[in-house]
Amino acid sequence: MDAIQIYGGNCLHGQVRIQGSKNAVLPILAAALLIDGVCEIENCPAISDVYHMLRLMESLCCTIDRNGHTVRVDAAGVSRCDMPPDSVGVMRSSIMLLGALLARTGSVSMQYPGGCVIGSRPIDLHLEGLRKMGVVIREREDGFDAETKGLTGAVHRLPIVSVGATENLVLAAVLANGNTVIENAAKEPEITALCDFLIKAGAKIEGVGTKRLCIRGVEKLHEVSYKVPADRIVAGTYLAACLCCGGEVFLKGAPCMQMKAVSAAAASMGAGIEESKEGIAVTCIERRVMPPGLITACYPGFPTDLQSAFLAAMTLADGEGVLEETIFENRFRIVPQLRQMGARIDCQKNKVCVSGVRTLCGTTLRAEELRGGAALVIAGCAAQGRSVVKNRHFIERGYEDICHDLCSLGARCKKE
Ligand code: UD1
Repeated sequence: MDAIQIYGGNCLHGQVRIQGSKNAVLPILAAALLIDGVCEIENCPAISDVYHMLRLMESLCCTIDRNGHTVRVDAAGVSRCDMPPDSVGVMRSSIMLLGALLARTGSVSMQYPGGCVIGSRPIDLHLEGLRKMGVVIREREDGFDAETKGLTGAVHRLPIVSVGATENLVLAAVLANGNTVIENAAKEPEITALCDFLIKAGAKIEGVGTKRLCIRGVEKLHEVSYKVPADRIVAGTYLAACLCCGGEVFLKGAPCMQMKAVSAAAASMGAGIEESKEGIAVTCIERRVMPPGLITACYPGFPTDLQSAFLAAMTLADGEGVLEETIFENRFRIVPQLRQMGARIDCQKNKVCVSGVRTLCGTTLRAEELRGGAALVIAGCAAQGRSVVKNRHFIERGYEDICHDLCSLGARCKKE
């Protein structure tokens, strides 16, 4: 069965190692298409989104060699430019291949990408930016054909901050003819990771980590070896699990510098947080209190990807609190299921008001997307009795082994 079974009610104790970052590795894999030679990517998470990406790259004639968490990509043979619709349909990050493939082959034909159902998730900013760089795009009902006689540098001013569009334009710009400026670029750590990887391979990028990226196109990029940073969202999920269940956990390797807003939110709920080079120690002995008001925002704000996990934790905190989502319009899909567990949540458009309860009750739940699914699992770990979270495959898109990780902290859950 495609499910996770949980017997809830245990406090969490112990330590868990944080896997490599999904959102960092996906654009880095796309960047490997631009490299002349073999590139080696270490600490690559073993998750289904990565497997999809690797299969997609193989279908474009890349040679992939995966050994544990190390992946070697040789893109010398890339010639094909039509992406198989079944792969593109299931994963939004397949759009990441667009900028890189145009740089490599000059023409791409693809379906509109799929991914989590957390909003309409258009790609207009990606396409508009590429048009400015000399790409002709013909849109069809279910996809588009893109063609260029050579990418040229351009000045972009993104009307809204978009992680994916920033990454795609960086990928298109590094080998383009001339200079590119991206104003109002996203500043997420995953973009910094992509730029660090590309700079190591010989790209010329300035302003990394700021909202203005300047890229000078170079002739070619060379072989590179790179270690993917730890996943701040996975670390934040387990931090929220400790908030839900109580206890003391150590998040080994958690990137504390990237998690300031998350640690601050947890501290405002009464958790003790100790940050070090080795990771983050979380202590939740007393009952949690509601945060004064939690609102998702672009980095360095509180990440939308942790909104569901913190919502789960808020359902068990003392008092009343408000959680507001500002990035995606359809990201409160777990609310009816948390209510089924006994949570008291009032939903108003992009805001929820939560009145904390003493306990949640285990029941049968259904993951509908990645982060919401993980949040249901941690809610199940805190609830009294047995829960089953169906549709485990959504969670496996981004978590290597959530059951193993939570069990190593003393939770009782297993794959069914
Ligand atoms: C990435 C992350 C995702 C995270 C999100 C926001 C990856 C693989 N995924 O998604 O986990 O939740 O950033 O931090 O890294 N938008 C447009 N037009 C576009 C592109 C985006 O209107 O062409 C809108 C989106 O609908 C959304 C907002 O911009 O409302 C931000 O989306 P974006 O930052 O692009 O998210 P993703 O890159 O898809």
